[in-house]
Amino acid sequence: MNKDLLKKICSIKGASSEEDNISKFILNEIKGLIDKHSFDKMGNLIAHKKGSGKKMMLAGHMDQIGMMVTFIEKEGFIRFTNIGGLTPTVIHCARVIFSNGITGIVNCERLEDPTKITLDKMFIDIGAVSREEAEKHVKIGDICVFANEPIIDDHKIMTPYLDDRIGCFVMIEALKKIKKPAFDLYFVFTVQEEVGLIGAKTSVYTVDPDYGLSFDVTISADTPKARKLPQKFDGGACIKIKDSSLLCHPLMIKHMEKCAKAAKIKYQYEILEMGGTDSGAIHVHKGGVPSGVLSIPTRYIHSMNEMARLSDIQDSIDLTVKILETAID
Ligand code: CO
Ligand code: ZN
Repeated sequence: MNKDLLKKICSIKGASSEEDNISKFILNEIKGLIDKHSFDKMGNLIAHKKGSGKKMMLAGHMDQIGMMVTFIEKEGFIRFTNIGGLTPTVIHCARVIFSNGITGIVNCERLEDPTKITLDKMFIDIGAVSREEAEKHVKIGDICVFANEPIIDDHKIMTPYLDDRIGCFVMIEALKKIKKPAFDLYFVFTVQEEVGLIGAKTSVYTVDPDYGLSFDVTISADTPKARKLPQKFDGGACIKIKDSSLLCHPLMIKHMEKCAKAAKIKYQYEILEMGGTDSGAIHVHKGGVPSGVLSIPTRYIHSMNEMARLSDIQDSIDLTVKILETAID
């Protein structure tokens, strides 16, 4: 596995609406492998790899969750709102970093009942002692993200940026390996998924595909007392059945499963009760676009330490290559 690329792509900061550095990095990585590329007005990177057959749009979102400055207290503490899904107990004490490099810690007012923690009781502390001092570094509307650097060992990766750099990584690595595409392929690296599948909604209009396939993290349901769901660590690439944004099209589920079986790639079914991804926007385009999702089982999604197994990531890359080299019948 290309751990070097994995580490690099999980080190670039890019909350929703601030994906420029990631899209530049990805374009640089793939430009020798594609026939054409364009950026749309929203910032989606649309990379075309010509192939025979029907048009397939692949989507992986470049953005990550973050926190946006809403108000600065006179003592210098920063109030914020969420960019994407944030859980107060999960982000408590997280390190964050703004685009200009200013760092801080998420903390909370003293509460009578600490279980009653809500985002409006929380603040970011950048170490300032007055509003004037804080305003020299940060202004209303600025966005920060978790600051943890990625850690990769021989079997796993931990980073707050897995959602969804890991989807982008799988797409890039598959693009490198694919020899004979059975589709006319559009690799779309989308913006603003975390705030409502925005990039997928606009780019699917541009691409106008026959099929859709997106790549994202999903909950690994194997931690103690987790909800009983089929997907788990080291269970292989996940073929999504449903999440809250779509019921995957049977045609795509069948195709993905057939490819996994034919190439003897480890796979598992996946169901997500909360949360969706780009295929939720792709499948309702025009008269309908049969769409599927290939997910990577991930623990602690939307925290400062998302974790995934390298084995599942490798299975996902291998399955993607097989899916793209096999025509849908
Ligand atoms: Co997410
Ligand atoms: Zn995601």
